[in-house]
Amino acid sequence: MPEWLNDAVFYEIYPQSFYDSNGDGIGDINGIREKIPYIKSLGVNALWINPCYDSPFKDAGYDVRDYKKIAPRYGSNGDMAELFKEAHSAGIRVLLDLVPGHTSEEHEWFRRSSETTKNEYSNRYIWTEHAFDGGFPFNYVAGETERPGAYLLNFFKCQPALNYGFGERTSSWQLPPDHPDCIATREAIKDVMRFWLDMGCDGFRVDMADSLVKNDDENKSNTCAVWQDIRQMLDREYPNAAIVSEWDNADQSMNAGFHMDFTLNNGGTGYSTLFRDYINHGEWLTAGCKEGPDADFGAKEGDGEEKRLGILSERDKSFFRKDAGGDISLFLKDYESRLASARGRGYVSLITGNHDTPRLNFLMDDRERRLAFAFILTMPGVPFIYYGDEIGMRYFDGMRSKEGGFHRTGSRTPMQWDETENLGFSTADKSLLYLPVDPASDHVTVASSEDDPDSLLNFVRSLIDLRHSTPDLMASGEYHTVHGEKGDSVYIYRRGSFLIAINTSGREARTLIPETESESLSGNQIFNLGEASLDGSVIVTGPQSFTVFE
Ligand code: NOJ
Repeated sequence: MPEWLNDAVFYEIYPQSFYDSNGDGIGDINGIREKIPYIKSLGVNALWINPCYDSPFKDAGYDVRDYKKIAPRYGSNGDMAELFKEAHSAGIRVLLDLVPGHTSEEHEWFRRSSETTKNEYSNRYIWTEHAFDGGFPFNYVAGETERPGAYLLNFFKCQPALNYGFGERTSSWQLPPDHPDCIATREAIKDVMRFWLDMGCDGFRVDMADSLVKNDDENKSNTCAVWQDIRQMLDREYPNAAIVSEWDNADQSMNAGFHMDFTLNNGGTGYSTLFRDYINHGEWLTAGCKEGPDADFGAKEGDGEEKRLGILSERDKSFFRKDAGGDISLFLKDYESRLASARGRGYVSLITGNHDTPRLNFLMDDRERRLAFAFILTMPGVPFIYYGDEIGMRYFDGMRSKEGGFHRTGSRTPMQWDETENLGFSTADKSLLYLPVDPASDHVTVASSEDDPDSLLNFVRSLIDLRHSTPDLMASGEYHTVHGEKGDSVYIYRRGSFLIAINTSGREARTLIPETESESLSGNQIFNLGEASLDGSVIVTGPQSFTVFE
């Protein structure tokens, strides 16, 4: 286990939208480099950069055409090597995004695999025997190549699945996971990992990590076996490298050997009930995209959008929204079992959001978001902050889709730096921007947030400081729930010698805690937002407050 993870706070960068250093309208690697001082000033000490490899960008780069080449629009491999170097001098580690489950249909491996004559790549992807073999399951594509057979997709049409074999096999074209050609796929991915690790990369966020072996059993034991093998390679050759999975199942991810697993919104699990409960109640994907020149930002007032937001807001019972009727016990039930699975093996990672989720500020106001940050940054495991969330950037509901983003596009707009052209993101003509910048007159920027001691940005910085200076609050520090009842707006948890109380309602609350918890408290508060006090074994929490008792 890389020790540095214990005190890691990650920052996710969507490279398209962070900072454009050469004025072509799109963010780039040198742009990230130039912003290292800002990144450092946040207190974060690790980055996850979304795919920045050569790609036709039908899925924002998750359709990789060449795993070993930085996309020219972002710069060169040399720029990346330089970024690793400069980030390291600033005490910042860099994880790249590894996409092992599929490539772009334009990848050379796929081109070779599509050939009618057998070659070393014929089985690199999953092909049925004949194009008309038993009809087409919806995720197989036929008729695109002269090679007879249909190939399996892993996500979009442009992303054929790489072949790691099948757990259960029902047709002769389904190879066992230990078939030499499936092993060759795994070795090819190891080779890609070594390539970047040798250049200075510190590890990977792994896309759809659970998707490798098809028809796997319910524990995904074949997929886990692939990762265990890869983890052994890392332990042997790169013991300080870290891998975090997009798996959303800590038990399986830890069995697989990942150091961290994201807790995501998939499957309506408890995490979504904290900040994005609306996604569990339908309707939220229905925002219409308008046509015409002003369509970029999607639905607007007068389009029925207000009504839609009203409905969403009414149904949404997110715990962190003031008096929305949320239930922290839904989250805790799921989270505690994840923690138990991860204990001693790795970490559960909570995120403020990512490039696939609506931003925190959709339906949540400034105070609610502060409580969310305070929570995420004082929980065990390794926290991840999505770029722009720290200043409170907006989610643009119904925004016109870009690069396969669809509803995700609204979370991918350019970082808002200052009041110069294009909010400081790029000097390019507006028409060339990757995505337009926030057009609202009350947009936030880094510059305006820096100047305001009470800004969200400065609040987030103080929380990150607190975490770095308090070992009990770090990833491996002890956690247990003290109070988290169904229907109660107060959530209290212990982190080592600290007790943390959050009240998300608009009213003062009095909560009785066990004497075993209260007797060790000094009454001292090392951090607070709003008011709280201790009255014997009763914790008194003010409206929408967050307090760390010592
Ligand atoms: C998950 C990624 O986060 C998402 O952005 C991408 O579209 C899919 N995996 C496919 O790679």
